[in-house]
Amino acid sequence: MNTQNNVPKAAKPAAFDEAAFKETFDGLLSEGKAEPALTHLLNALPQLSASKLNRKEKLKHLTFAGRMLQGAGLGKYGPEKLRGKAANLARMVKRHGLRSRRTFVDLGCGAHEPLAMATYFYANGFENAFGSDFMPISDESYAALSMYDVISSMFMFPERYMMEGTDQADYLARLRNFDAAALSKGDLAGGLRNVAEQVAFKCCDIVEAGIAPGSVSFLISYAVFEHVMDVPGVTKHIYELMEPGGLGFHYIDLADHRAYRHDGDYNEFSFLTEETCAPNLNRLRASEQIAAFKAVGFEILETQHKRIPVPETTRAAYLPRFAAMSEEDQDSRALRLVIRKPV
Ligand SMILES: C[S@@+](CC[C@H](N)C(=O)[O-])C[C@H]1O[C@@H](n2cnc3c(N)ncnc32)[C@H](O)[C@@H]1O
Repeated sequence: MNTQNNVPKAAKPAAFDEAAFKETFDGLLSEGKAEPALTHLLNALPQLSASKLNRKEKLKHLTFAGRMLQGAGLGKYGPEKLRGKAANLARMVKRHGLRSRRTFVDLGCGAHEPLAMATYFYANGFENAFGSDFMPISDESYAALSMYDVISSMFMFPERYMMEGTDQADYLARLRNFDAAALSKGDLAGGLRNVAEQVAFKCCDIVEAGIAPGSVSFLISYAVFEHVMDVPGVTKHIYELMEPGGLGFHYIDLADHRAYRHDGDYNEFSFLTEETCAPNLNRLRASEQIAAFKAVGFEILETQHKRIPVPETTRAAYLPRFAAMSEEDQDSRALRLVIRKPV
């Protein structure tokens, strides 16, 4: 039997109309409809790939339409992602002051853009700036391209990225130490070659990163401490790394991460009703996280709880140990913590 005859032929995609694609895409973006613009791009892919004409032109849509979407705030990356976080940190540093600009550490910097934050602090005068994560970089060439965008943006708009007290000539000279040409070709190691001693990714547990005790002026983490299994051990270690007066910032995501699937099956507090939970979440509540930093000697300078309503059916099913906790522990989905090692 000729099976080919029994297989219905896939409908041939309609010819790709560049002008119509762009008109709709640009129109959606100008109306601030980034998600529909993304859908429009994704729906156009079969036609884009089926048409053999002007393939290099089509590559432009794939390259630049994606960037336009990122510029519209969808799937924040590189400069977009760095700017908001860095501005918050700069304001916080201004409130509390830094003892020195010796070593900066981004604990649990992530696998995608591990050195964006380190680059920011190096450019702002830190002697050393490290990212530390035991996850290896997920894609070095993407990380390099993102770094190229970060460095270009920092160079073009110093006023957006310079912290108070940073010397502009020094800031620009430090940015020139990166090999932007190598980064633009996706070569991360090449791009970092001239700053490899000062700006480095340490692919290991923070406790094995070989950072000199007493040397860290500023240590931050974003969405890390809810994943740390040995919280007493890690807080003790970072206390030892800090210089006296060293400042710390920690954003701790206290939510059940299954809520991010947005399938309606779980909310931010569902895991407080279950005997076991995902092995990479410690389920420590806000007061327990704060207590862990205090226990090793940190002074707590600021705490900010992000509290949201708990669905009544979830609250009624809380395990006894969570039901016995304070309201704040029961309904905080995130915690922002500023700490200092006493002088
Ligand atoms: C949710 S990710 C956050 C990544 C990044 N900070 C961000 O905001 O996008 C948490 C990261 O912390 C890392 N991590 C957890 N414990 C760590 C430790 N003890 N030392 C180094 N990295 C750690 C994990 O490997 C993971 O990549």
